[in-house]
Amino acid sequence: MAMTGLMTRKPIAEIISDIEHTGFSKSLGALSITFIGIGCIIGAGIFVLTGTAAANNAGPAVVLSFALAGLACAFVGLCYSELAALLPVSGSTYTYTYATLGELFAWIIGWDLILEYAMGAATVAVGWSGYFRSLLHNVGIDIPAQFASAPGTVAETLPDGTVIYGVVNLPAAAIIGLLTILLIMGTKESARLNNIMVVVKLAVVLAFILVGVRYINADNWQPFIPNNSGDFGEFGWSGVMRAAGVVFFAFIGFDAVSTAAQEAKNPQRDLPIGILASLIICTLLYIAVSAVMTGIVPYSQLGVADPIAKAVDITGLTWFSILIKVGALAGLTTVILVLLYGQSRIFFTISKDGLLPPLFSQVHPTLRTPWKSQLIIGSVVAIVAALTPIETLGHMVAIGTLFAFILVCGAVIYLRKSDADVARPFRTPGVPFVPVLGIFFCLVLMVSLPLDTWLRLIIWLAIGMAIYFLYGRRHSVLMNRA
Ligand code: ALA
Repeated sequence: MAMTGLMTRKPIAEIISDIEHTGFSKSLGALSITFIGIGCIIGAGIFVLTGTAAANNAGPAVVLSFALAGLACAFVGLCYSELAALLPVSGSTYTYTYATLGELFAWIIGWDLILEYAMGAATVAVGWSGYFRSLLHNVGIDIPAQFASAPGTVAETLPDGTVIYGVVNLPAAAIIGLLTILLIMGTKESARLNNIMVVVKLAVVLAFILVGVRYINADNWQPFIPNNSGDFGEFGWSGVMRAAGVVFFAFIGFDAVSTAAQEAKNPQRDLPIGILASLIICTLLYIAVSAVMTGIVPYSQLGVADPIAKAVDITGLTWFSILIKVGALAGLTTVILVLLYGQSRIFFTISKDGLLPPLFSQVHPTLRTPWKSQLIIGSVVAIVAALTPIETLGHMVAIGTLFAFILVCGAVIYLRKSDADVARPFRTPGVPFVPVLGIFFCLVLMVSLPLDTWLRLIIWLAIGMAIYFLYGRRHSVLMNRA
């Protein structure tokens, strides 16, 4: 098959005409969609990674890192809003790329999105397991550390120095299993639970800000940007940059709003609202939380798995510490829920195009959810979450997502030229500057990630390429028609 075939673009008109008749129910309004965004955004990034970024990279200036990562995501979010309203299909970046760079690139980006969604869900499930174990400990129940950690990782060091290694992370696998069942039972039910838990986590985050602000000791903000240690990324401005790369994880999820396109009542109006509102709300909360956190705790002491709980402990309000953990658990649960949901919707679209087997686009006749796909995704993600350490997963999620974001910004510029006349319910302002700035910021954040993460990304994409040539290319609906 000729290379030109691989670059065949899916016509915009055809994508739009595919939108109806999916079998999904259209049950989501603007508020639910915004909550899907917030549901997916506030999670392990703020509850786990902020402390590490402050302690190892930026000090109190982690506040600036959040602002920087938020700015990068704002440019990308504006681009997502245009494309999500123009092409309200659950394939997200995969579909946008199909319309611009053609099938091969679309498949590659679809494959790359597995890093963001499925691997993202596994990463957050590992964070969930940590908070879950810690909360149970507070109420007198102890899960043996080796059954809540990945094999080969240090699960616990006993007072006599004995090191206990992990065997399997059972709570991480269990939460994936439970949420998979919920997602199979129905989108409306899942959205309802998501809404409740988003309210809980927002309440807890706000409570932390409002209570914590009274315990700030301004001395902890001095020096605001600690001097660079001599190594790139360890404090100073390079540290602020590296920390922005780390806390970028905290913003991942606003784009997941676009995967709800086919279940939205009024996608062309509500998707841009959902994407931008969730992004703005979360950025403001992040800046406030990181300022309060570094104001209460000297930044050098924040390198722990539960930095917000640590800040609360310093205030002496022990009851509040338990509440924070409950809020964190609710927060992490919604992130996993939305990522698992998004993954199945992306596979749905890819399968409709013939690049994945048809079972990924089969919708249950009464539940109206892609149950087989959800089951396969849930099983694989549960196994990965049970067996893989969080750091390796987290970096892969970040690089995979940034790669997808760059293509989204590029697609806006491309489609403005190739399909200038198509009605755009939402227009990104300042094209091409805003998309170009989005690309620039994403590249800067990608460069700040370690080299081995780049190598893993390349290997992952090579595997995807092999699958395309072995399966997708032969079954592609578009190719076989051409
Ligand atoms: N933004 C999500 C989180 O921080 C992925 O958990």
